[in-house]
Amino acid sequence: MYVDSTTLSATDELLAPVREQLTAMEGRLRESLSGQHQALTAATEHLLDSGGKRVRPAVALLSAGLFAADRDHAVSLAAAVEMLHTATLVHDDLIDRALLRRGIPTLNAKWSPDATVLTGDYLFARAASFAAQTESVRVMNIFAETLMVIVNGEIRQKFANEATLSREGYFQRIHAKTASMFALAAEAGAVLGATSETAIRSMRRYGRETGMAFQIVDDVLDFIGSADRIGKPVGSDLQQGLLTLPALHYIEANPHDPDVAALLNGHQSDRQVRERLLQSIRASDAIEASLAKARDYVASAKSALSAATAGEHLHTLHAIADYVVEREF
Ligand code: IPE
Ligand code: IPE
Ligand code: MG
Ligand code: MG
Repeated sequence: MYVDSTTLSATDELLAPVREQLTAMEGRLRESLSGQHQALTAATEHLLDSGGKRVRPAVALLSAGLFAADRDHAVSLAAAVEMLHTATLVHDDLIDRALLRRGIPTLNAKWSPDATVLTGDYLFARAASFAAQTESVRVMNIFAETLMVIVNGEIRQKFANEATLSREGYFQRIHAKTASMFALAAEAGAVLGATSETAIRSMRRYGRETGMAFQIVDDVLDFIGSADRIGKPVGSDLQQGLLTLPALHYIEANPHDPDVAALLNGHQSDRQVRERLLQSIRASDAIEASLAKARDYVASAKSALSAATAGEHLHTLHAIADYVVEREF
């Protein structure tokens, strides 16, 4: 099967084995609770309508399907994962003062910080209630732990005195902010099916490695992507003083570049320095080297599935891992 590398959503061919469940998940995500303030309903709709690739719930459903988990529990898990993702984005955009996501204004672009924080809180609670609907204490536990890992990672970044120059720090960071949630999706799906601890561990590894690749590609797209397609401004990582893999690679290879020195001395707000660096990094081998690293993670993700039963679920999990490095947004 040829995998379309540009789209991934509930309507995509690629997701045929779980499309019906993804549709059920969309319905669940949009259910509003009785007494829910209309502002929360409006915010939820705004967020869900803005798109999003739904890649994490797809992983959760495929993992659950691979191990023949109960359908309703799997849909609850998928809703929990996507809602958790949505909630983290609401708070993240407020923290990052980002005004655009998925090509449309963020909540914080339209609302006060107070209303944005509270809406994020509400969505976290919704995610927890979906997680509870899996009726698995173990799954709820994985949820709680994942959110702790994510917040811990973000706090570490906030309190860091300077942008970290180590690759190790970078990989730790992307594990916390992204790979941990992919790991949750894949692991929890397996937990809902009746399977062995070995299989659960393998699925967790698949999720983690796929998530690492996903974030590296996200970081590459911040250099070479088109703002129209990725739905957020290009070059925002450097602007925020965030050194991602392409930048780290370039800095290691070009320690004497005066723009590197300027950046490291805190001049990331200097537009000219930033623009020149963006160009230099784009033109260097840093992009290809970063993508090569992402491909290594994809290979490792696939190898984690080596003992799984062949079938369309397994096939699609492989296809998603490939998609992650081929995507353009
Ligand atoms: C955005 O994730 C945040 C990151 C971890 C890079 P996605 O790129 O999956 O966001 P949507 O849901 O598809 O918009
Ligand atoms: C977003 O991180 C993901 C989480 C905080 C969990 P980033 O701030 O790096 O990603 P974008 O660029 O806003 O999507
Ligand atoms: Mg952000
Ligand atoms: Mg952020």
